Formats: sequence, structure tokens, C-alpha cells
Amino acid sequence: MPTPARLHVAHALHEVFGEKGRVPDIWDRDLGEDAHLAQALLGLCLRRWGRLQAWVKPQLKDPARGVPLGTQVALAMGLAQLAWLPGVSDHAAVNESVALAGDRDLGFHPHKGLVNALLRRAAKDRAALAAALDALPSALDRPPAAERALKAALAPHGALDQVEALWSRLQQPPRPAFRLVRGEVPEGLAPDPEWPGCLRLEEGAPFPRPWLESGAGMVQDRSSQALLAYGWDRPVTRILDACAAPGGKTTTLARRHPGAALTALEVHPRRAARLRQTLQQRGVAAQVIQADAAEWLEASDATFDLILLDAPCSGSGTLQKHPEWPWLAHDDLPRLTGIQRRLLAAAAGRLTPGGLLIHAVCSWLPEEGIAHRDWLAEARPDLRPAKVWPAALGVADGTGREVTDLFRPHPLRWEGEGFQAFAVQRSS
Ligand SMILES: C[S@@+](CC[C@H](N)C(=O)[O-])C[C@H]1O[C@@H](n2cnc3c(N)ncnc32)[C@H](O)[C@@H]1O
Repeated sequence: MPTPARLHVAHALHEVFGEKGRVPDIWDRDLGEDAHLAQALLGLCLRRWGRLQAWVKPQLKDPARGVPLGTQVALAMGLAQLAWLPGVSDHAAVNESVALAGDRDLGFHPHKGLVNALLRRAAKDRAALAAALDALPSALDRPPAAERALKAALAPHGALDQVEALWSRLQQPPRPAFRLVRGEVPEGLAPDPEWPGCLRLEEGAPFPRPWLESGAGMVQDRSSQALLAYGWDRPVTRILDACAAPGGKTTTLARRHPGAALTALEVHPRRAARLRQTLQQRGVAAQVIQADAAEWLEASDATFDLILLDAPCSGSGTLQKHPEWPWLAHDDLPRLTGIQRRLLAAAAGRLTPGGLLIHAVCSWLPEEGIAHRDWLAEARPDLRPAKVWPAALGVADGTGREVTDLFRPHPLRWEGEGFQAFAVQRSS
């Protein structure tokens, strides 16, 4: 019987490659000490899936025949442990994968012998296996969706020749970034020298779960932190966070504009309930309303001086954190861009004169960001670009104090999720 950690990894791989579903954020919650092994193994299998399968093919009697997913999963997990996890013994890597291959739900029983034979052979020289896998082209691990996202990230910076460099950066598991909500900075966290207010884990420090659970701090990606450092000094009395859960940006908005009345909308009932709880725990005063933001805005006569529309999106900018992203179906982009546009139109209609609207997505794809900006410029000539971010974010070459209405951190010079945002101001 495979260990719970390996069963979890196998389940996650079946979810991604069988169902085209995401890996849930808390998939490893019950694994205790073994969570590290599970995280490392799942990351390796997802990030190197293409080359692991390419290594297997020529070893098969009939390489042209399809390989059942149960066999692919057992082999990928076994090979990844042998090649890249030196702390795992040959015995554990091989036997647990063979047991997985024999599992009724997760394996493919007729291939138990094949999995055993291939892994035993590979285990005889683990260094050679690693070298052979590393020598395969990294492009094998990049399905078309990943290729497209990388090009979209690099094109605006004139850096299309950097695809390999960006891909290789995105293969490193991301380092989390934090923000203090109240109280003192706990031990184990240190200021990020590049970004004011951002906290990073010190070398070897444990993940600060109790601090996060107490509401005294939160995880917030560096790009989100930089996005919310917009330069805006007009008075703000009413703020709308139109797509608010899990509430990281709502928390920052409340801290940036103390005294302003803050409304937070969230369409999913469970996420809205959780948002209410989180904000309360953090001491953030906001009116949380569970509603479809477009419907609510279209029906409401409320107006706001500041609207943040952190819209639901493809999440292409999060593929470092979500290495399954390249392998998902991505057939819902037209639906998502339709929702984004409807939300944007509704939000634009509820700005006070002189008010600021920020549209943000954690995606590099132009149809989720810059295309909406162009559309809005045509549809609403009373809204003009608001230059609220430094043009040279993440660029230390002294490009001066230029400012821009477009938030698009350079994906190779700025450590953070891929983000795309624009800001507009309504004429007074
Ligand atoms: C990108 S996330 C927001 C993250 C959040 N701003 C933060 O920083 O913590 C988008 C959120 O919008 C919600 N959402 C999606 N469609 C929505 C809609 N039509 N109206 C309101 N919320 C929506 C999603 O459930 C999700 O929680």
C-alpha cells in the first residue's frame, strides 16, 4: 500500500491529467511531516511531465500505443523520485510506484510488471537517469498554453528571445511574501530589501502558520503589494472591492484608506462567508455583500471614489505557483473575458467624478487586460488613463520617475506573480 503522501500526489496527478482540474490549495493539509515530500514530488511531476513521458515512450514495446494514465502516473512518480529526490531510497521509489500501478483506482494493474521492470532498470544508475531526463528539451514540458502565456508575458517588454530564461525562472517553487496586518513582525520574517512593507521568510524559518491564522499577518504576493501601492492622493470616502475573496486586497485597501467606507462583493457564498470571517479576524471594517458584482452594480445607484476590480481570470500569471496550469483545458477564456468586460462596464458606471478605477488580473494574456483597456477607451471617453504606477517597476536601470497607467511588471526583473492592470480616472 503506497504511503498517504504518494497517494495524495497520485490523486492530484489524476485530477490534472484525467479531469483537467486544478490542484486544490490545501491538498496536502493532512500529510504532516510528509507534506514536504509530497509537495516536492508533485511539483517535479507537473513541471517535468512532458520529459518524463518522453523518456518512457522509447522504452515501450510499442511506443505508438497510448499509455494509460495509471501507468503514466506511477512511472512519472517513480522516475522523478529516482532522478531528483536523492533522499528517497531506491526501494521506496520503486516499490511504492509498483504498488500504485497495482492500485484499482489510481493505477493500471496489467502494467504492474512493466512499471517494476522499467523502474528497477532506471534505479541501477540514478545519476544517468537524471542526466538523460535533464538533457531532454525543456520545451517538452510546455504545452501550447504555457508557450502562449510566456510569449504574452515577454512581448510587451520586447523580450521574446527570453522564453527559455522565463520558463526556467518559473520552474523554481515560488518564495512566499507576507504583509503585517497588526502587531509586531514575528520571528523568522525579515523585510524584503526591494519592496517596503513586504516580509520574507528567513533561511530555514518555519512557515508562520499560527501568525497567519491569528489574523495578524497575511500572505500577499509581491505583485499584489506593488499593485496596491498606486500613487493616488485624492480624498477617498467610498471604496468598492468588486471581487474581494479571499480578502488580501480588501485588507490592504482598508489600511491605505482608513476612515473610508469599504464595500466588498463576492459572488460565491462560501467564499463570501469566509471573507467576512477573515476580515473580522483582521479587524477590517467592511460591508461584505454576497452578490454577482455586475448584477449588483447594474442594479445599484451607489457610487465610489475608488473601485478595485480584481477580476476572475485565467490565472496565466500564476503558473509558477500552480505548475498544473499549463496542462489545464483553457477552453473557458471567451467566457472569462466576457465576464471581465461586463464587470468592467458595470464598475465604470459607478465611479464618482474624479474617481479611480483599477482593473487587475493575474494573467499575462492581452485579451484579459490591455484589450479591455483599449475597449474602455473607446466606449467611455469620459474616463482617461490614470498614471498611478512607476513605469520602471522592477527595473533598476534608473529609467527615472516616469509613471504609467499600465501595471505590467517585467517578468524577469521583478519577482512576483504575472499581473496586468490598468487604471482610469473619471473626469471631474
Ligand atoms: C482574483 S480573485 C480576487 C482576489 C482578491 N481580490 C484578493 O486579493 O484576495 C477573484 C474573486 O472574484 C470572485 N468572483 C468571480 N466572479 C465574480 C462576480 N461576477 N462577482 C463578484 N465576485 C466574483 C471569485 O469567486 C474570486 O473570489
